[in-house]
Amino acid sequence: MYVQRCIECGREYAPDEVVYTCECGGLLEIAYNLDDIDPSTITAPGRLCVWKYRSLLPVRREPITLLEGGTPLYRCNELERELGIRELYVKHEGMNPTGSFKDRGMTVGVSKALELGMKVVACASTGNTSASLAIYGARANIPAVVLLPSGKVALGKVAQALMHGAKVLSIQGNFDEALELVRQLCESEGFYLLNSVNPYRLEGQKTIAFEVAEALGWHVPDCVVLPVGNAGNISAIYKGFRELRDLGITESVPKMCGIQAEGSKPIVEAFAARALEIAPEPTPETVATAIRIGNPVNAKKALSAIYESGGYAVDVSDEQILASQRALAQREGIGVEPASAASVAGLKKLLDMGVIQEDESVVCITTGHLLKDPETAIANSPPPIEVDATIEAVKRAVFG
Ligand code: F0G
Repeated sequence: MYVQRCIECGREYAPDEVVYTCECGGLLEIAYNLDDIDPSTITAPGRLCVWKYRSLLPVRREPITLLEGGTPLYRCNELERELGIRELYVKHEGMNPTGSFKDRGMTVGVSKALELGMKVVACASTGNTSASLAIYGARANIPAVVLLPSGKVALGKVAQALMHGAKVLSIQGNFDEALELVRQLCESEGFYLLNSVNPYRLEGQKTIAFEVAEALGWHVPDCVVLPVGNAGNISAIYKGFRELRDLGITESVPKMCGIQAEGSKPIVEAFAARALEIAPEPTPETVATAIRIGNPVNAKKALSAIYESGGYAVDVSDEQILASQRALAQREGIGVEPASAASVAGLKKLLDMGVIQEDESVVCITTGHLLKDPETAIANSPPPIEVDATIEAVKRAVFG
């Protein structure tokens, strides 16, 4: 059994209560009685996927699934050499059904929406969440409404939200404003809110931790490095590692390192001040539009994940992000969108700063696929070479 519990005051809410934050304003998380969970239900061999870990997921009905999770964990020898680190893996979440980690949360969140008898699902999004909500809404046959910041969502993500049949609203404002609006809409219309303030959605995302540990033979790496936007994923993954440790499956938790873009870094600033709360950034800006967020709703969870695990928060420039995107693409054959490359750019900075040591093992989470944002990829690559249709011209171009 489980309850929804406030991380601030400890107040508990029943599993079927539709509530997103506590009366005190605190964030909620799903709390299990771990004595009821047989660890062998988690560790039993089987194909990696979100629903392998069902005994630690808060859904009882048949899930709405597209076989999400089970993403590859790639060893990166080239980048190990280049960065000077012993053991580096990339967990490529771009290999999920819609090309981002959001599918892990949405398979759980949309299944929960049906279990609760909700009639419409909704979210605000910098893109990936909307693509994912649209596809799981289609799969579940429940209408989906998504609010996007106008002109700031990468092309592939808009295409997905539109094609999978969501009602797509382009808001004349940024993500933080869109989130505020969708929260009001859900409140007044009884729509089910599937942003990461929803504690059920984050339960799906914690399976990243389970898969990483399982792929490493139920060991945890020294550090996990990932991009931070609305700060749900770092909180979810940390919760997953905590649960594994509390069940006695693993011995410790990794240091959680959150990376933000230079123009959009409220968590990094709070961390630098050793604060527990953020000061929102009113005008966030970065080429990594997925994490162009100034007022991350899960900031408190994320900051405790970082502090408790002995982790770190650091920002990287757009140039560093794009350079790491290219390095992943060309040195390792891993195609990711800019936000995802922030993880590797951040790792490089943390190594340079001496925060991460070269004898440590690190997993970078690349959260979304290269094809999500083809425009940025094209804008930052040399153009195709125009050639006449003759063999001489082709050879001149090849050897020129
Ligand atoms: N990477 C990608 C590719 C994302 O799409 C997001 C968030 C993040 C990282 C950051 O994760 O918000 O849990 O800290 N995208 C959200 C969206 C906000 O609407 O798609 P977070």
